[in-house]
Amino acid sequence: MTRRLALLLITTLLFSLPALADRDENKSDERGKKDQDDETSMSCVQCHKKITPTIVTDWKLSEHSEEGVSCADCHGSKHTTKADVDEAEVPMPEVCAECHGEQYNQFAAGKHAKAWAALQAMPTTHALPSTLVDGMKGCGGCHKIGFKSEADLEALKEAGQEYGVASCDSCHTRHLFSKEEARQPQACRTCHMGFDHPQWEMYSSSKHGVRNDLKQLGILPEEAAGPTCQDCHMANGTHENRTPWGFLAVRLPLPEDEQWAADQTTILKALRVFNPVTGDPIPEMVQLVIDADVARLTQEAFDAERDKLLAVCRDCHSEKFALGEMEKGDETIKAIDRLMAEAITIVARLYEEGLLRRPDTYVYDYPNLLTFHDAPTGIEQRLFVMHLEHRMRAFQGVFHNNPDYALWYGWSEMVRDLTAIKEMAVALGLNLDE
Ligand code: HEC
Ligand code: HEC
Ligand code: HEC
Ligand code: HEC
Ligand code: HEC
Ligand code: HEC
Ligand code: HEC
Ligand code: HEC
Repeated sequence: MTRRLALLLITTLLFSLPALADRDENKSDERGKKDQDDETSMSCVQCHKKITPTIVTDWKLSEHSEEGVSCADCHGSKHTTKADVDEAEVPMPEVCAECHGEQYNQFAAGKHAKAWAALQAMPTTHALPSTLVDGMKGCGGCHKIGFKSEADLEALKEAGQEYGVASCDSCHTRHLFSKEEARQPQACRTCHMGFDHPQWEMYSSSKHGVRNDLKQLGILPEEAAGPTCQDCHMANGTHENRTPWGFLAVRLPLPEDEQWAADQTTILKALRVFNPVTGDPIPEMVQLVIDADVARLTQEAFDAERDKLLAVCRDCHSEKFALGEMEKGDETIKAIDRLMAEAITIVARLYEEGLLRRPDTYVYDYPNLLTFHDAPTGIEQRLFVMHLEHRMRAFQGVFHNNPDYALWYGWSEMVRDLTAIKEMAVALGLNLDE
C-alpha cells in the first residue's frame, strides 16, 4: 500500500497536467467538450480515444490505468497536439525500471537482455537486408527483446527505426501489460518456434504442453499439474533466464569422456571459438562468449542452472526420475556430437586437401558454422542445416519430452545429412577410406 501511494505521489509530482487529466476522466471529458476547438487542452486519453481507440481500451483494462499510471508516465508530456507527434517518447526499459526495479534487475542479469548484442555479433547479420535486422522483421523481430546500447540506438535511428526498443513488452504486450498474459506459454511462442529453436512446437505437443492446453480449455481443473515454459524457466516469477547447456549445447570444462571432448572441440573449432589449426581458444571469440553469456564456462555455473531446473521437476516428479531424464539429454548431446564432428571433419579435409578452394572470407582451411546460410559451398550449406536445424532439434526435443522431434526431425535427419555430406565429398574427390 505504501509503495503504491509513494508511486502515485512521484508520478503526480513528475508529470504535468495532461497526465493528471487522464486520471480524472469525467472531469476532463466535460472540459474536452467545452474546448473542442482548442487541441492543446485535450488530454492524451481524450484525443487518443479518437486517434487510436483500442490503445486506450487496452490501457483502461490494465492495472496501470487502475493504479494511475498514465500515457505520459511512459511517453512523456511533450507531445500534446497533432503537430508535435515526433515529441512523443518511445519508452525504453529504463522507464519501466523507474517503477519495477526488481524485474528490471533480474532481466538485466539474464540471457534475454543479451539478445540484441548476440545478434550483432554474428557475421551473417550484416549481409542481410536492413528490414530483417533493424526493421525487426527477421532476426531483429525476436532479438529486439535484448537491451540496446547507446551505439545500437544510434544505428537504429540511422536506419529510421524508432520502435521496438522497450524489451519489457515482449511477454506482457502493450498496452495491457498483463501479468496473466505473460504467464501463459503462448507468450513465448512468437520467438521460441521454428527452424532452430522449435520449443513451442516441441512443448505444446509434449505431455506437459497437452496437459496445460487442457487446463486452459477448462477441461482439466486449474489445480491439475501441467507445467508451463515459465514454471521451468522463470521459476517463482524471476526474470533472469539461462539454461545449463544453452542454445549451442557446448560448454567448459569439456566432458570427461575422451571421444566426446574431442567432438566438442571439433564443433568449437567450426564455431571459431577454438583455433582450427592449434585447437587453442581464440581470445576475441572467448571474450564474446563471455560478454553474451553464450555458454557456461565452469562446472559450478552449469550445476547451478541444473539444480534450479531439478528443483522445479521435484515439485511433480521424484528426484531419481528427473535426474534420469537430464542424463538422457546429456547422452543425446554426446551421440549427436559424434555425427556432427564426423561431418565437420570431412569438410575440413576437403579444404586441407585442396579439393575445395578457400574463399576470401575464410582465414582457415576449415568450415565456419557461423556463416549460416551464407556458407560458401553446397556441402557447407548441408552442414549448416545439419548443425542449426537438426542437431538443435535432436537435443532440444529430448529435453522437452517430444519423441518425434528427438527422433525424426532431429537424429534421423542428422544421419541423412551425414550420408549426403559423405557422398558430396566423394564426388569432390575425397577418399573416405584414407
Ligand atoms: C490533440 C490530439 C492529441 C493529443 C492531445 C495527444 N495526442 Fe498523441 N498522437 C496524436 C496523433 C494525431 C498522433 C499520430 C497518430 C498516427 O500516426 O496515426 C499521435 C501519436 C502518438 C504517439 C505515437 C508516436 C509515434 O512516434 O508513433 C504516442 C506515443 C502518443 N501520441 C502519446 C500521447 C501522449 C502521451 C499524449 C499526452 C501527453 C498525447 N499523445 C496527446 C494526437 C494527440
Ligand atoms: C510510474 C510507474 C510505472 C511505470 C513507469 C510502469 N509501471 Fe508497470 N505498474 C505500475 C504499478 C503501480 C503497477 C501495479 C502494482 C504492481 O503490480 O506492481 C504496475 C503493474 C505492472 C504489471 C503487472 C500487471 C498485472 O497484470 O498485474 C506489469 C506486467 C507491468 N506493470 C509492466 C510494466 C512495463 C513493461 C513498463 C514499461 C513499459 C511499466 N510497467 C511501467 C507502475 C508503473
Ligand atoms: C521477443 C522474442 C522472445 C520472447 C517473447 C521470448 N524469448 Fe526467450 N529468448 C529470445 C532470444 C532472442 C533468446 C536468445 C538470447 C541470447 O542469448 O542472446 C532467448 C533466450 C531464452 C532462454 C535462454 C536459453 C539459453 O541459451 O540458455 C530461455 C530459457 C528463454 N529464452 C525462455 C523464454 C520463455 C520461457 C519465454 C516466455 C515466457 C520467452 N523466452 C519469451 C527471444 C524471446
Ligand atoms: C523467431 C525468432 C528468431 C529469429 C527470426 C532469429 N532468432 Fe536468434 N534466437 C532466437 C531464440 C528464441 C534464441 C534462443 C534459442 C535457444 O536458446 O534455444 C536465439 C538464439 C540466437 C543466438 C545464440 C545466442 C546465445 O547466446 O546462445 C544467436 C547468435 C542468434 N540467435 C542469432 C540470430 C541471427 C543472426 C538471426 C537472423 C539470421 C536470428 N538469430 C534470427 C530467436 C530468433
Ligand atoms: C507502461 C508504459 C506505457 C503506458 C502507460 C502507455 N504506453 Fe504507449 N507504448 C508503450 C510501449 C512500451 C510502446 C512500444 C514502444 C516500442 O515499440 O518500443 C508504446 C507504443 C505506443 C504507440 C505507438 C505504437 C503503436 O502501436 O501505434 C502509441 C500510439 C502509444 N503507445 C500510445 C499510448 C497512449 C495513447 C497511452 C495512454 C492511453 C499509452 N500509450 C500508454 C508503453 C506505454
Ligand atoms: C520472457 C517474458 C517476460 C519478459 C520479457 C518480461 N516479463 Fe515481466 N513477467 C513475466 C511473467 C511470466 C510474469 C508473471 C510472474 C509470476 O508468475 O509471478 C511477469 C510479471 C511481471 C510483473 C508483475 C510482478 C508481480 O509480482 O506482480 C512486472 C511488474 C513485470 N513483469 C515487469 C517487467 C519488466 C519491467 C520487464 C522488462 C525489464 C519485463 N517484465 C519483461 C514475463 C516477462
Ligand atoms: C518441464 C520443464 C520445461 C518446460 C515446460 C519447458 N522447458 Fe525449456 N528446457 C527444459 C530443460 C530441462 C532444458 C534443458 C536444460 C539443460 O540445458 O540442461 C530446457 C531448455 C530450453 C532452452 C535452451 C535450448 C534448449 O532447447 O535446450 C530454451 C530456449 C527453452 N528451454 C525454452 C522453453 C520454452 C519457450 C518453453 C515453452 C514453449 C519451454 N522451454 C518449456 C525444461 C522445460
Ligand atoms: C507442474 C508439474 C510438473 C513439473 C514441474 C514437471 N512435470 Fe513432467 N510431467 C508432469 C505431468 C502431469 C506429466 C504427465 C504424466 C504422465 O505422463 O502420466 C509429466 C510427464 C513427464 C514426462 C513424460 C513421462 C511419460 O511417462 O511419458 C517426462 C519425461 C517428464 N515429465 C519430465 C519432467 C522433467 C525432466 C521436469 C523438470 C525439468 C518435469 N517433468 C517437470 C508434471 C510436471
